[in-house]
Amino acid sequence: MHQNQSHPNGNGYLFDQFLQDGSNKRTDSYGGSFENRARFLLEATRAVISVWGSDKVAVRLGPSGSFGDMADSNPEGLFTYVATELGKLDLAYLHLIEPRVRGNVEDDTRDPNPVAAKLIRSIYPGTIIAAGGFKADTAEAIIAAGDANLVAFGRDFISNPDLPERLRRKAPLNPYDRETFFGGTDIGYVDYPFYDQRVAA
Ligand SMILES: Cc1cc2nc3c(=O)[nH]c(=O)nc-3n(C[C@H](O)[C@H](O)[C@H](O)COP(=O)(O)O)c2cc1C
Repeated sequence: MHQNQSHPNGNGYLFDQFLQDGSNKRTDSYGGSFENRARFLLEATRAVISVWGSDKVAVRLGPSGSFGDMADSNPEGLFTYVATELGKLDLAYLHLIEPRVRGNVEDDTRDPNPVAAKLIRSIYPGTIIAAGGFKADTAEAIIAAGDANLVAFGRDFISNPDLPERLRRKAPLNPYDRETFFGGTDIGYVDYPFYDQRVAA
């Protein structure tokens, strides 16, 4: 259940629509309380674990995420509850999207600091991956602070096939071209140069 094109979490996708009360208006046992709104995600996660084992299953959440017009009246309470329950399942990891990024665009109305990982770290015992607006220095900082175990990169990884190597060498990054996101062709996906290619050119 890690993010990919067929089973995304967070970002207003199906599980997020059940979690957040801006969209979940159900009056059955899958709507209302935190417990009810989290039921679908937790049941589905347990079902997948029963087949594949918890070490191969992960969940991606966007605490306070507003992408796709998502909203919640008490995001701290909701996502603290969800993370507490997920913490009992011994997942491979819990992937958290910082609310400062809305989908794949910076949201300047939100806290520029990584607040989601900080909130969840105190109640989640397993591996946390933080994502959303990280650069080399802020990624180092959140790991040093102990708020995340790992950091994921989205846009910079699209435009830098050798991103880990560039970060390690403190090399400059290729800027990404938003026009080619979701383009449906190889342009903007496989034609960004490696650093060494760029230097040689
Ligand atoms: C082209 C593109 C497609 C994306 N598709 C998804 C997706 O299907 N599901 C999802 O949860 N996030 C998706 N994202 C969001 C990224 O996973 C990530 O959360 C976001 O880009 C913020 O990280 P960044 O600041 O490192 O780019 C996508 C981002 C981009 C640029």
